[in-house]
Amino acid sequence: MHVSIFIGSPRVNGNTATMANALSKSLKAKGADCRSYYLYQHKIKPCFDCRLCKTEAMECAQKDGMTILYENLEWADVIIFGTPIYWFGPSAQTKLLIDRFRPYFANKKLQGKKAALLLPAGSGEGDCDITIEQFKRVFKALGMEFIDAITLKAYDEEDADEVLKKHDVVQDLVEKIMQEETV
Ligand SMILES: Cc1cc2nc3c(=O)[nH]c(=O)nc-3n(C[C@H](O)[C@H](O)[C@H](O)COP(=O)(O)O)c2cc1C
Repeated sequence: MHVSIFIGSPRVNGNTATMANALSKSLKAKGADCRSYYLYQHKIKPCFDCRLCKTEAMECAQKDGMTILYENLEWADVIIFGTPIYWFGPSAQTKLLIDRFRPYFANKKLQGKKAALLLPAGSGEGDCDITIEQFKRVFKALGMEFIDAITLKAYDEEDADEVLKKHDVVQDLVEKIMQEETV
């Protein structure tokens, strides 16, 4: 099973990264091939609505840091989106990534893939609902299957680690992802 994990926080040792690393470690232990990407280390230009991706090529006209991310979105069977909640929504870099999915609306290359969310938020679950709903609609539009979202109340960088030590919520998601393989 190929799993691509996109980490949409600028904090490389932050809560999103902690959740992503825990998930990656557990999935690798079960034999999955996991790759992680820190979105803030990639230069992702905004979609400028040129609509070239709606013509025959059905590809994005822009050649930038998205090139390798496109490759790994298409490589994956399961795609994990980790983003801190910023003002009730995903981080700006995560939104840049989503906007650049427009070619996939035309070429359907993400159709049938599974997806899950990792969402740390200072206030916890209550501030994650809009983001979960947004991603669910994106997945539906692209023909993807939503597996689950993990929300975690975490503000300081070490918070996620503390929560995961007490209750390994990531393990529940690992089980669901691996179940998907056997169905
Ligand atoms: C610009 C900004 C906006 C934020 N907005 C919210 C919010 O609306 N709700 C919330 O619960 N936490 C909010 N937070 C807190 C982060 O979601 C929280 O600190 C999270 O754990 C950061 O994840 P990270 O360590 O992976 O960067 C915000 C943080 C920043 C920097």
